[in-house]
Amino acid sequence: MTVTGACAVEKIDLIIDTDPGADDVVALLFALASPQELNVRALTTVAGNVPLDKTSRNARLAREWAGREDVPVYAGASKPMLRTPIYAADVHGQEGLSGVPVYEPSQGLAQGHAIDYLIDTLKAARPKSITIAILGPQTNLALALTREPGIVQGIKEVVIMGGAHFNGGNITPVAEFNLFADPQAAEVVLNSGVRLIYLSLDVTHKILTSDERLKRIAALNSNASKLVVDILNDYIKADMESYGIAGGPVHDAAVIAYLLRPQMFSGREVNLVIDSREGPTFGQTIVDWYDRLKAPKNAFWVESADAQGFFDLLTERLARLK
Ligand code: RIB
Ligand code: CA
Repeated sequence: MTVTGACAVEKIDLIIDTDPGADDVVALLFALASPQELNVRALTTVAGNVPLDKTSRNARLAREWAGREDVPVYAGASKPMLRTPIYAADVHGQEGLSGVPVYEPSQGLAQGHAIDYLIDTLKAARPKSITIAILGPQTNLALALTREPGIVQGIKEVVIMGGAHFNGGNITPVAEFNLFADPQAAEVVLNSGVRLIYLSLDVTHKILTSDERLKRIAALNSNASKLVVDILNDYIKADMESYGIAGGPVHDAAVIAYLLRPQMFSGREVNLVIDSREGPTFGQTIVDWYDRLKAPKNAFWVESADAQGFFDLLTERLARLK
């Protein structure tokens, strides 16, 4: 329990599901540097930006760089539920992490499959006590829900980086990568009825790096800060070129900032539909932002954020790392 000001703030019991991935690694360092607010129970990995063996190694690297080898890493699904696998090595590099040396971390994976870990943990958890952050395709949670629907009892909320509405897609004109990589999984999670918070490209594209923001992180002059700056300098090139913008989004880190400071973000309860039909809208998230259909609200859709507040907080937390 953390006491800030007059009120005590309940620690968040958190599982981070991730496909590192450059921005995933920044998000993991951010989260693992925030133990007062986030009790990171485990990292679960999934194929996404690169194949599972590389996302799992990269999650272990992030854990090592954060000095948090107390947190277990469980490897999960190696392919999407139904569609043919796709990757984003063109953006993240063949190793899933360009701009920095990549090597085999000293500590290995935890024994057991991530889906078994999710099922066992969520079944045994106190009701609505565990938050799940999903930073990649939603395959692991979807397969766990399919095998054991009763695990919803243990889930407080699922905070997802994914989707796009106002912004348009980054992999097709309408689809964002995490949803496009496994839309069937996203539908399973959506239809499970768990509390969902979506941080889509609509908000992550409003939180962009700048020379000044990256210089402040570099000025921390630590191994972790150098890794983050080198990773981001490489990672943002693709978006800066593709969108013709002066900085790049750090998509997944926005999920961690939301968990730490939800008041920095705003959005609304919406009806969300996910399109998994083959065709030009495959992987699209259709958001009824103006409630045209008066359909049931099934997600909280985050649409704006305090970008400077995000970088202030990220820099403050990275300053804690060596
Ligand atoms: O579209 C951005 C998302 O896809 C991020 O999670 C990035 O890591 C990739 O997984
Ligand atoms: Ca990711």
